[in-house]
Amino acid sequence: MHITALRNEPAVVSALADLIIETVACGGSVSFMHPLPREKALAFWEASLAAADRGERVVLGAYEDGELTGTVTLLLDCPDNQPHRAEIAKMMTRVKYRGQGIARALLTAAESIAAERGKTLLTLDTAEDEGAAGLYEKMNYRKAGVIPDFALKPHGGLTGTVLYYKRI
Ligand SMILES: CC(C)(COP(=O)(O)OP(=O)(O)OC[C@H]1O[C@@H](n2cnc3c(N)ncnc32)[C@H](O)[C@@H]1OP(=O)(O)O)[C@@H](O)C(=O)NCCC(=O)NCCS
Repeated sequence: MHITALRNEPAVVSALADLIIETVACGGSVSFMHPLPREKALAFWEASLAAADRGERVVLGAYEDGELTGTVTLLLDCPDNQPHRAEIAKMMTRVKYRGQGIARALLTAAESIAAERGKTLLTLDTAEDEGAAGLYEKMNYRKAGVIPDFALKPHGGLTGTVLYYKRI
C-alpha cells in the first residue's frame, strides 16, 4: 500500500468520484444522498483538491497497484481562535478493499501530518447508524457525544451523528 497527498489532476478527481459514488451507494454517510450524480461528485472533489492546493486541507489517497483504494481528508483551515485544531473528514475505502487496514493507515498518516503542522487536537463526526465509530474507537478517539437526527442516511431515514476527538 502506498499513501500520498493527492493533486488536482483529472485522473485523480475521476478515481475519487468513483470512490465516493460507490461509498454513498453502499450507505456510507459522507454528506451526499444516493444516487450521487457523477458531475456532483467530480465538482466536489475538484473544489476539495483546489482547497488542498491553497493549503487549506490535505487529501490523502491510498493506492494498490496504481488503483485508488481509499481516501481521507485533513481539514486544516480552522477559525482564527482554533489554530491548534484540525478535522478528519471524508474517510472511505473501496468496498472490495475494506477490512485490510487501509483506513487505519490513512488515519495514521493524517495524524502524522496534523502533528507536523503543529495541531494538537483532532475532531470528527460519524453517523450513528452504519458509521465508522468502531474504527475511530480502535484508533483511540474519544466520544464527546451524540446529536440525534443530525442527517439523512444516503438511502433515506434520519440518523444521529457521533462526535469524536483525539489529542495528539
Ligand atoms: C469506515 C471505513 C472507512 C473503514 O475502512 P477499512 O479500510 O475497511 O478499515 P480498516 O480495515 O483500516 O479497519 C481498521 C480497524 O477498524 C475496524 N473497523 C473499520 N470500520 C469499522 C466499522 N464501521 N465499525 C467497526 N469497526 C470498524 C476494523 O475492524 C479494524 O479493526 P482491527 O484493526 O482490529 O482489525 C469503510 O468501511 C468505509 O469506507 N465505510 C463507508 C464510509 C464511512 O462510513 N466513512 C466514515 C465517515 S465518518
